[in-house]
Amino acid sequence: MAISSKLFSLLFLQLMFISSLSNIAEADGLSSRFYQYTCPGLEYTVAKTVALYIKKQPTLAASLLRMHFHDCFVRGCDGSVLLNSTPNNQAEKDSIPNLTLRGYNVVDAVKAVVEKQCPGVVSCADILALVARDAVRMIGGPFWEVPTGRRDGTVSISREALINLPPPFANISSLKTSFLSLGLSVKDLVVLSGAHTIGVSKCSSFSNRLYNFTGKGDADPKLDKYYAVALKGKCKPNDQKSIVEMDPGSFKTFDESYYTLVSKRRGLFQSDSALLDDPDTKAYVVLQAQTRGATFAVDFAESMISMGQIGVLTGNDGEIRRQCSVVN
Ligand code: HEM
Ligand SMILES: *[C@@H]1O[C@H](CO)[C@@H](O)[C@H](O)[C@H]1NC(C)=O
Ligand SMILES: *[C@@H]1O[C@H](CO)[C@@H](O)[C@H](O)[C@H]1NC(C)=O
Ligand SMILES: *[C@@H]1O[C@H](CO)[C@@H](O)[C@H](O)[C@H]1NC(C)=O
Repeated sequence: MAISSKLFSLLFLQLMFISSLSNIAEADGLSSRFYQYTCPGLEYTVAKTVALYIKKQPTLAASLLRMHFHDCFVRGCDGSVLLNSTPNNQAEKDSIPNLTLRGYNVVDAVKAVVEKQCPGVVSCADILALVARDAVRMIGGPFWEVPTGRRDGTVSISREALINLPPPFANISSLKTSFLSLGLSVKDLVVLSGAHTIGVSKCSSFSNRLYNFTGKGDADPKLDKYYAVALKGKCKPNDQKSIVEMDPGSFKTFDESYYTLVSKRRGLFQSDSALLDDPDTKAYVVLQAQTRGATFAVDFAESMISMGQIGVLTGNDGEIRRQCSVVN
């Protein structure tokens, strides 16, 4: 008797938990239980496959997170970033900002396993959203419920990536415009920028800040001068190839140290430094730096759910690709 009532209250608590999560998770036609009947083991299968790759190569997590961001900011989260170019069309994959995107093979491997399990049911856009979430979680990041039900687009245009992805030299007003135009908030901007707590960058993405920034042979005055010297040691003028850690020392761990760096004027990109140029984004940076990221994990989860809903195709729009790199 005692046991069964305990069991009941446990079940009840669990139900409350699930329904409170799905309140957050259900929006724009996506649902946290979209594949409940059509592909019940999906999340387990995805997590297991992602784990195989991330264990071997933890640095792939950063690239997979960035890939989901690039997907969502260009034509919505519709898997367009995964499509290959064709003889008549240069795809997003082959645009300049793709730079170091790696890990397409992880998405393809997950898709292949999922296709065996539930053929023709799960979109590549959903798979990428799940893969990014799992990869982040596996390197110490937060967990979030990924609402699913996205469908795959059939169009991918290189030039659109260049137009829609904010460049590393973006200033605060153009960053805000970019995020707001996609239905995200200024808070989402400062929270999602925290993704730069992991990963690496090519020198060419920021070396304009190191050499002759204002035409007087100087570095960007918004960059800590000692840090500028250290970066010059890693990136000689016109070095297009070398890479540096964006969060030196903990670039493989998803933590809040990004905000500590930015608050010390050691953000790598102008777009990172720009977060100090707006009172609201600056306040957030300072708060996270001072509180060791008191709310960062929760905020990041929330903002990722919002980002994952940008321009999604649902219902009968688009298709369920059989292979993520080509349209059916
Ligand atoms: C706010 C505007 C943003 C700008 C201007 C920006 C720009 C960049 C640039 C230039 C790189 C380096 C690429 C290279 O040189 O190899 C980079 C890397 C990265 N970005 Fe962003 N980004 C932004 C927002 C985001 C968001 C919203 C996310 C994810 C939620 C994200 C995740 C990442 C990650 C994880 C890396 C490291 C990739 C790797 O190690 O392979 N970024 N970003
Ligand atoms: C990115 O685009 C360049 C051309 O701009 C291309 O050479 C490269 O293979 C692309 N990278 C990936 C991973 O597709
Ligand atoms: C910010 O960048 C945009 C786009 O490059 C430019 O048009 C604008 O003048 C810049 N704003 C400021 C305040 O520098
Ligand atoms: C720095 O920039 C100025 C103005 O564009 C130019 O005249 C000068 O030659 C540059 N110096 C170097 C070392 O490239």
